[in-house]
Amino acid sequence: MKVLGISFGRKNGNCDILMKQALLGAIKTGAEVSFMNTCNLKIDRCTGCGACDKVRDRGGMSLCVLKDDFLFVREAIMDADALMVAAPVYSVGPTGQYKNLVDRMGASHDRAALLKENQRRRSLGWGEDKMLDPRVFKNRPFAVISVGGARTEGWTSLGLPNLHLLGFSNQMIPVDHINAYGMGDRVNPAFDEKFMNRLFKLGENVAGAAGMPEEQIEWKGDDAGMCPTCHCRHLFIKSGTEVECAVCGSAGTLRIDGGEIKVDYTEEEIKRSRYHMGGLLEHQEEISDMMVNVSKVLAKRGGELEQLLSPLKDIPEIKPTKL
Ligand SMILES: Cc1cc2nc3c(=O)[nH]c(=O)nc-3n(C[C@H](O)[C@H](O)[C@H](O)COP(=O)(O)O)c2cc1C
Repeated sequence: MKVLGISFGRKNGNCDILMKQALLGAIKTGAEVSFMNTCNLKIDRCTGCGACDKVRDRGGMSLCVLKDDFLFVREAIMDADALMVAAPVYSVGPTGQYKNLVDRMGASHDRAALLKENQRRRSLGWGEDKMLDPRVFKNRPFAVISVGGARTEGWTSLGLPNLHLLGFSNQMIPVDHINAYGMGDRVNPAFDEKFMNRLFKLGENVAGAAGMPEEQIEWKGDDAGMCPTCHCRHLFIKSGTEVECAVCGSAGTLRIDGGEIKVDYTEEEIKRSRYHMGGLLEHQEEISDMMVNVSKVLAKRGGELEQLLSPLKDIPEIKPTKL
């Protein structure tokens, strides 16, 4: 089994050390491992051009058309059977380059959309060689390590949840995560043997799950969290006692039990998580329905737009000039 570890930190910085330690754990299980550091790679933001969807709908491969290092990273992920990522916390959440990757892998690798596209191609009688890259349908165990310098956990609060975002569109399976805060006090992670052993374990957990049927893969993290799907603790309060996991979308009902906050989830709601097909399919239907509505409204009111938007034309826009 091939396990890929990606570090978004500085070359030879904390993320690199933690990821390489986790890869040692993966090697112990017999996995073939590879490591990548993205610090000097160019992964620009998604420009929302929609070319990936258009190429896919014309029978192509749903790939981003921007010319930078994204396709190199994407190819390494596609080649892997399991994925681990480590990213530094910058301003309470992961470094921006990580979000760029999440967005570039997002719509273009949405499993619900890709399954639908393969169904369409089959219904047209296209051969297997004309189907989408089969690696987009691989079930990859996934673990994330959020790495923060601060001693106070709260200064890293949006690290872990944001790292999970990479797992949704391609339906990775969360196996473990670590909020590695307090790196400043550790001086160098190598000085903390217990911590390094935990990283090693994370690597073993992910590699051990690679190739297993999805229903047999279990969460191996230290903390079950407040969400049964992504195991994060980030709930948003909807109304009354209704809550939803802000990360993956599992919804439940909050109650206080013995002075502790508990959330009851139904199986039906859990299946609607973005980490499950139910959540992705629901979003696909939402988008399809929205597109029908957009066409209807534009057919009826499109002619009004020039006049409605004309007051916005006079807002002065500033652009970079050579200094
Ligand atoms: C611009 C910037 C912002 C940072 N913001 C935070 C922060 O909000 N919380 C935190 O815990 N650490 C913060 N840090 C510290 C890094 O997370 C820490 O140094 C981490 O080890 C960097 O990973 P690396 O060693 O792999 O590069 C910040 C560092 C930089 C450069």
